[in-house]
Amino acid sequence: MTPELPAGVERILFTEEQIEHRIRELAAQISERYKDKHLKLIGVLKGSVFFMSELARRIRVPVKIDFLAISSFSNKSGAPGLVRIAKDLDDTIEGEDVLLIEDIVDTGFTLRYLLQTLSSRGPNSLAVCTFLDRTSRRIVQVPVEYRCFEIPDHFVIGFGLDYNQLYRNLNYVAVLKTERVG
Ligand code: IMP
Ligand code: MG
Repeated sequence: MTPELPAGVERILFTEEQIEHRIRELAAQISERYKDKHLKLIGVLKGSVFFMSELARRIRVPVKIDFLAISSFSNKSGAPGLVRIAKDLDDTIEGEDVLLIEDIVDTGFTLRYLLQTLSSRGPNSLAVCTFLDRTSRRIVQVPVEYRCFEIPDHFVIGFGLDYNQLYRNLNYVAVLKTERVG
């Protein structure tokens, strides 16, 4: 019954059909909220690309897209939470209605940094839509307006999410076979 799974896959959490269904629901909510507006979707490279393209295709208001990339690192004592922009947006966001698209919100450090940076650029509005949300590991509180799925405390891959840059192209979300340490 189960088709062969790639070596790194422990089990499938969300199938292609479940993902598509949730994305349609979110797109409908977003289209309603931003009706009469133009919406700018900002994707955080690279993880959000797959989710963002599926979502954007189903949103019923005029959409612009832009991307940024960040890199996160730990300080000398190993504390997480240091983030910087590795590739900035192509355009300004001043006066625009911005929806920031994330692959997953975990501790919240990345999102907090991005929200601080983007809000200082004067958008008309700024909200967050994440594909996955792991609230059980949250360290800093961040506002998440839209999310596809809440997930348990396992490292996940697929539909944009990677392990050592692999598995982003899986058409589903899966738990990685070797649980991460720490
Ligand atoms: P945060 O700053 O701890 O919220 O980290 C969020 C970032 O860590 C995400 O944008 C991902 O790039 C990465 N990440 C966190 N959990 C996972 C996971 O389960 N699979 C793949 N990447 C993850
Ligand atoms: Mg990310």
